[in-house]
Amino acid sequence: MAAGNLIDGRAIAEQIHAATAQHVSALKSRGIEPKQVFVRVGEDPASKVYVGMKEKTSARLGIASETRVLPETATEAELLTIIAQLNADRAVHGILIQAPLPKHISESRIFAAVSPDKDVDGFHPINVGKLMLGDETGFHPCTPAGVHELLIRADVKIAGAEIVILGRGNIVGKPMAAILCQKARHADATVTLCHSRTRDVAAHCRRADIIIAAMGVAEFVKADMVKPGAVVVDVGVNRLPDPSAKSGSRLVGDVDFANVQPIAGLITPNPGGVGPMTIAMLLANTTRAAELATR
Ligand code: GUN
Repeated sequence: MAAGNLIDGRAIAEQIHAATAQHVSALKSRGIEPKQVFVRVGEDPASKVYVGMKEKTSARLGIASETRVLPETATEAELLTIIAQLNADRAVHGILIQAPLPKHISESRIFAAVSPDKDVDGFHPINVGKLMLGDETGFHPCTPAGVHELLIRADVKIAGAEIVILGRGNIVGKPMAAILCQKARHADATVTLCHSRTRDVAAHCRRADIIIAAMGVAEFVKADMVKPGAVVVDVGVNRLPDPSAKSGSRLVGDVDFANVQPIAGLITPNPGGVGPMTIAMLLANTTRAAELATR
């Protein structure tokens, strides 16, 4: 799956899409039409792009989707009312509330209001708890699940590996650590979770067999922080001003790709690495939610 030392996230995502599309047809032949609803609040440009891509890919795999857009001024109560309606709607199998939400709305209260059975983002406290406990009946958050699947399909040895995760957010860093430290197949790693208060991040990185960068600092991981031959996964999406670009800016990851690629054993390109995997895992989760709803 690697061209040179690149881990091709687009190609691996397509493998997962193929399996999901088959699962969708099998469900449809039993009269089950998988459906998910995206909820977006406000006009955050990145969220618009992400939700648009999720809709397009859903349609390609035969999964019905609908997007509810609320104004930036929507209240928490309004959002909770919509979630309650979606929880009760038997035709809806997956609900995704796109983050970030406006500051006056509590993300944790919103995520906790989504039925855990429709929580295809894996953000509900019950699903977070199941992940911690190694209970596979829950849903894993899509980005860390996608990184995990990338490592597995790129044949990276995870058991016993020293893995350094940069960033302790609830969407990527923390669940990523929980997935990789389980006593389970394709896990069993020694995980170090670094963050803004870590004393010597570079020293931790230099010990790592696998670095997963998800802290949201443009090109933070430099070549002198990477052990030759290490696997480097870049989850970051950062917009940098660039007067030479038509849009006036360009997207870069959390890894200084040009300088790290020559010494890495394997590395994810960005774009084309983790991004497509997040969507692939979301659609796999939604299809599984539709299947589970019939039991
Ligand atoms: N914002 C950034 N990543 C995600 C994600 O995986 N799910 C949701 N709902 N919002 C996000």
